[in-house]
Amino acid sequence: MKFFIDTANLAQIKEAHELGILDGVTTNPSLMAKEGIKGQEAIFNHYRAICDLVDGDISAEVVSTDFDGIIEEGKKLAAIHPNIIVKVPMIKDGVKAIKWFTDNGIATNCTLVFSAGQAILCAKAGAKYVSPFIGRVDDSGWDGVQLVQQIANIYAVQGFKTQVLAASIRNANHIIRCAEAGADVCTCPLDSILALLKHPLTDIGLAKFLEDAKKL
Ligand code: E4P
Repeated sequence: MKFFIDTANLAQIKEAHELGILDGVTTNPSLMAKEGIKGQEAIFNHYRAICDLVDGDISAEVVSTDFDGIIEEGKKLAAIHPNIIVKVPMIKDGVKAIKWFTDNGIATNCTLVFSAGQAILCAKAGAKYVSPFIGRVDDSGWDGVQLVQQIANIYAVQGFKTQVLAASIRNANHIIRCAEAGADVCTCPLDSILALLKHPLTDIGLAKFLEDAKKL
């Protein structure tokens, strides 16, 4: 399973990258706004800075919702760097645009996916990634990881090439359960990645080893 970080914060991206386990980055308009980035030039420069930090797939999201607008915006985003993946929402014009991007050699990540039916459409349109939002599914009273499992099963049975990118991760347990469920990628906030490191018995064991090492 690949690890992406789900943030536009350069310091956090750098920290995850320095761990040596980072395969890519996902962003969205809310995450970009959180960093105070305003205007197209600043947005494009920020994507360039992320691409300079991480040599892996970097998702950059369109904000247009009509076919022509999505294509125009997606082409500009894809031109920023060869590693840019155009992130397109799961709407009717989004599916049409994903098919157009696929036919024209531009890789896509279909975002805001909440059902297996939507995931089938993403795959049929040729998206490189499908992003089920598991934390938000959990928030609505259903089981987000079960959705990841269902999509992974359908893709395996049907031989679809689209990769399942589990998004909206809220904690370390989500990451572990997504790995079990067959996710190809987990995109995670930095604190969820770092939480994987933690176990009280590791801390207790290390303290004892260090104490005993003084006797050597
Ligand atoms: C996916 O790519 C999104 O950026 C993200 O995972 C959404 O997560 P949230 O539900 O925590 O906003």
